[in-house]
Parts: sequence; structure tokens; C-alpha cells
Amino acid sequence: MHDVDEQERLHELMVYGIVRGRARLGVPVSPEVEDALRRVKRHLFVPGAPLEEAYADDAVVTKRDADGLATSSVSQPTIIAMMLDQLQVRPGDRILEIGSGGYNAALLRELTGPSGLVVTMDIDRDVTDRASATLAAAGYDDVRVVWSDGEFGTAECGPYDRIIVTVGAADIPPAWTEQLMADGRLVVPLRLRGLTRSLALHRVGERLVSKSYEVCGFVPMQGAGSSQQRQIVLHAEPGREVALRVDNPVLHFDPALDQALTMPRAETWTGVSVRSMEPFDDLDLWLAYALPEFSLLTATKAAVDAGVVAPTWRLGTPAIASAGTFAYRTLRKVGDDQHEFGVYAHGPDADALAARLAEQIRVWHDGHRGKPGPTFTIHPAGTPDDRLDGGLVIDRDHRRVSVSWR
Ligand SMILES: C[S@@+](CC[C@H](N)C(=O)[O-])C[C@H]1O[C@@H](n2cnc3c(N)ncnc32)[C@H](O)[C@@H]1O
Repeated sequence: MHDVDEQERLHELMVYGIVRGRARLGVPVSPEVEDALRRVKRHLFVPGAPLEEAYADDAVVTKRDADGLATSSVSQPTIIAMMLDQLQVRPGDRILEIGSGGYNAALLRELTGPSGLVVTMDIDRDVTDRASATLAAAGYDDVRVVWSDGEFGTAECGPYDRIIVTVGAADIPPAWTEQLMADGRLVVPLRLRGLTRSLALHRVGERLVSKSYEVCGFVPMQGAGSSQQRQIVLHAEPGREVALRVDNPVLHFDPALDQALTMPRAETWTGVSVRSMEPFDDLDLWLAYALPEFSLLTATKAAVDAGVVAPTWRLGTPAIASAGTFAYRTLRKVGDDQHEFGVYAHGPDADALAARLAEQIRVWHDGHRGKPGPTFTIHPAGTPDDRLDGGLVIDRDHRRVSVSWR
């Protein structure tokens, strides 16, 4: 038995932390979502987890694969709140959630109310069994739980006013638009050039147009819609591996790249700086947009500690590669609360590649920093180039995604 006072205290602290954190970022949690967060008891959806874990602003992993990688979780509450605000649920809405955990479905049920409908689906039978049991135990037994591949949606209960995808996708399969009402809204964490953003998409004729986007991270989709990114190894020393993660057909495997790190480091500094807690995720989007050979550098902690590389984030820092050379973004402290972006590069063409990446960091600073970011428009595959909105075009099996900056 949990101590009820302690549970209520931790619950209130969790909600307070989410509301304060979002307000600080300038995107306040709506009263409806805040109210739903207060009403749904998260510990009921992670039975067995200590109360501190159930009410921490963190994902709770509920399943791992044979390599120990998370395949299912009850998502981080702040990310859930952010996506629910993007979804803008109205009372009475019919909602499909792809990727179940139970908790988010209960919040959706609170938002749509008794006149609405919530369907939650998952590809994993263990997950749907657990979601059914926890939803029923928490009093949400009218949520429909479906065990099936979300790539195909679930047409029986559609069409839906709202579809929310809570698993990382690289494409938007036809079912998600076929099962969406004409004035419906789709929220999906979409991976483009290796960067995942939760997009809130509205239908405009045959297209879907983004209304907002937010940084997020999700376990990748399994089943028919799964899509792997390629790895190019830069340093293979066991425990100190460094690689490029590539989600981009322009960048081909280049065997000369495994020699690049044996060459001296070139470096250049940009004069562009950031404060300690200042987000700069739009810079990543800009670099992915502006540089055709964009990829993400990844490194183990041991590789960073040993000074093999010094990226701005070891799990995915903007990088470019060409002709046996790679360049990536780094930071140095230039004041009490200021860090300056720079670029490190290795390989025969290191100075030129470093200058190319640094130039685009300055272009972002001079022309786009602090301004509205890109609009993402999703077109059906086969849409001719002259009917796209211009900008960068990313082709997937089912869609052509155009990214345009004002
Ligand atoms: C982050 S969890 C969902 C969290 C959940 N919405 C919550 O309430 O916190 C992602 C889920 O997506 C599921 N998933 C992965 N691929 C899927 C697919 N093709 N169709 C449906 N579910 C899928 C995983 O099994 C996993 O349970």
C-alpha cells in the first residue's frame, strides 16, 4: 500500500514542475491539460515502480529488447503534456493513439470526456495486455485497446478527429491520413535527417501542414513502418566508438572516413554564442536544412572523456562529411554564462569542411535565430516537384516532406 499523502504530494510536485518548466520556455500548459494531469494518477500505470519513479518527470521503461534497448515505456510527463497541447483535444473528439502505455490514453479520455472515444493501439501484446489491465484498474475501462501494427491504424472506429503517435516515425503511412477527419489534426514525432520533432499537422486538401513543432525523443517504430538509420564508423576502438548516424541518401559510405581521425584536428570558431540553459535546437534544424551532407556524430562517454572527439552532445551532434573528411560542431566557454560554437574537423579537406559548417552556424545566427522556424508540409509520394513548396525536400516511401524557412 502506498502512503496516500505522499502519493498526492509527489503527484502535485510533478504537475507543478511540468507547468513551471513549460511556462519558462514560453509555451504554457493549457488549463485543460493541467487539469487532466492532476486527475490521472500516474502510479496506477506503472505498477511496481516506486512512487518517486512514478511521479518523476521521466519516462519509465516497461520493456527492453535482447540488447537492453528500450522498446516500450510510459513516456516522460513533460513530453506528454507538450504533445497533448499540440493535439488540442475538444470534448467529444474521437481519438486514436498509436503506441500504448495506458497513462496517455487515460489523459486523452479525461480531455475528450464521456461523449468522446479513445482508441489506443500497440504492436506488442504485452503492452496492450498491461494497458488494458491498468486502464481498467484506474477506472478508464471504456478506452478501447487494440493489439495491431499502428502503421495501418485501426479503421473500425475511425475516422478520427485526432490521431496522436507516441512512437518515433520516419514516414506518414496512408492509413493515418485516410483515418483522419477532413478538419482533423495529427501529432507525430517525425524523424527527418536524424532529427526528431513532434509535428502538429493540419490537413489542407491532399497535404498536411505543420502548425507547430517541438523537440522530442521516442523509441523507434517497429513493424511495417520501421526504418533504420545507417552508421559510418569513424573510430572503432572498443568502448571508445565514434560514428556518424546517417538518415540521408546524399551521404554515401566512404571507406576513407575511418582514417580521418588519425589526421590532425582543424578548428574554427564562429563568434556565435549561447547561454547555459538556452535551447538551440533550431540551429540543428537549420544545419540539416542547409547542408546536403548533414549527419549526426555520436560517441561513447569514454570516447569524449578520452578526448577522441568533443561534440556539443555526444548522442547526436550536427556534422558533415565528404571525401574522407568530417566536421562537427563543438562549444567552448567564453564567459561566466556564455559558450561559443566552433567546428572541429579531421581529414584531408578539414579546413574547408570546418569553414563550411561554421559559415552555416553564422547564417542561422544572422538570419534565423529567435525567429519562427521552418514549416513542414507533407505531400503524397509522387507529387511533382513544381507542386511542392520549395525548400528542402525529403523523400520517404509514402510522402514527400518539404521544409521551408521564411
Ligand atoms: C513510448 S511508448 C508509448 C507510451 C504511451 N503512449 C504512454 O502512455 O506513455 C511507444 C510504444 O509504441 C509501440 N510501438 C512500436 N511500434 C509500433 C507500431 N508499429 N504500432 C503500434 N505500436 C508500436 C511500442 O511497443 C511502445 O509500447
